[in-house]
Amino acid sequence: MNAKQKTEALTAWLDERLSISTLAGMVSKKEVPLHRHSIWYYFGGMTLFLFTVQVVTGILLLLYYRPSAENAFESVQFIVTEVKFGWLIRSIHSWSANLMIATLFIHMFSVFFLRAYYPPREITWISGVLLLFLVICFGFLRYEGRHRDRRRCSNRRSTDASVSAWRG
Ligand code: HEM
Repeated sequence: MNAKQKTEALTAWLDERLSISTLAGMVSKKEVPLHRHSIWYYFGGMTLFLFTVQVVTGILLLLYYRPSAENAFESVQFIVTEVKFGWLIRSIHSWSANLMIATLFIHMFSVFFLRAYYPPREITWISGVLLLFLVICFGFLRYEGRHRDRRRCSNRRSTDASVSAWRG
């Protein structure tokens, strides 16, 4: 059996189980509207791109971030001062988060004002609302995390201050 026959046999084996040819047939016949090349139609893709940046940089930060109340602040300090390019990854994560919210809202409002949610795009709009909710939840978690880190920071400062006052 040569390489071509092996590939064909493998494709047939997969097709029998996953019906890939049916899907491929459907995709090849699917008509997609021509892109209008209007700036407004780029914002969905930008949001998706920034979301990917968030996932990748977030995973990198997780390698060093310690989420517990005792260690969160110190671990962030460690990331920005000791870890190689940690400051860069953290900055990209932070900038990309803010930019993503901006592109997301521009995307949502442009879809609304261009009436791109009209039939047959109603379910796309509903799935967008679900994504918006998810993004708001991410934002809330981030806010809570930072708030907790700051609280820890200020607690530490006040503890330091009371220790110095006690020591005189
Ligand atoms: C994480 C958030 C989101 C991502 C990654 C995303 C991504 C995308 C992408 C890549 C497209 C195709 C290109 C474009 O028209 O820009 C698109 C289209 C669309 N999105 Fe979103 N989207 C998000 C949130 C939302 C939200 C919040 C809504 C509305 C509530 C929404 C509603 C729509 C609609 C109706 C379309 C179809 C537009 C058309 O066919 O002309 N999306 N989205």
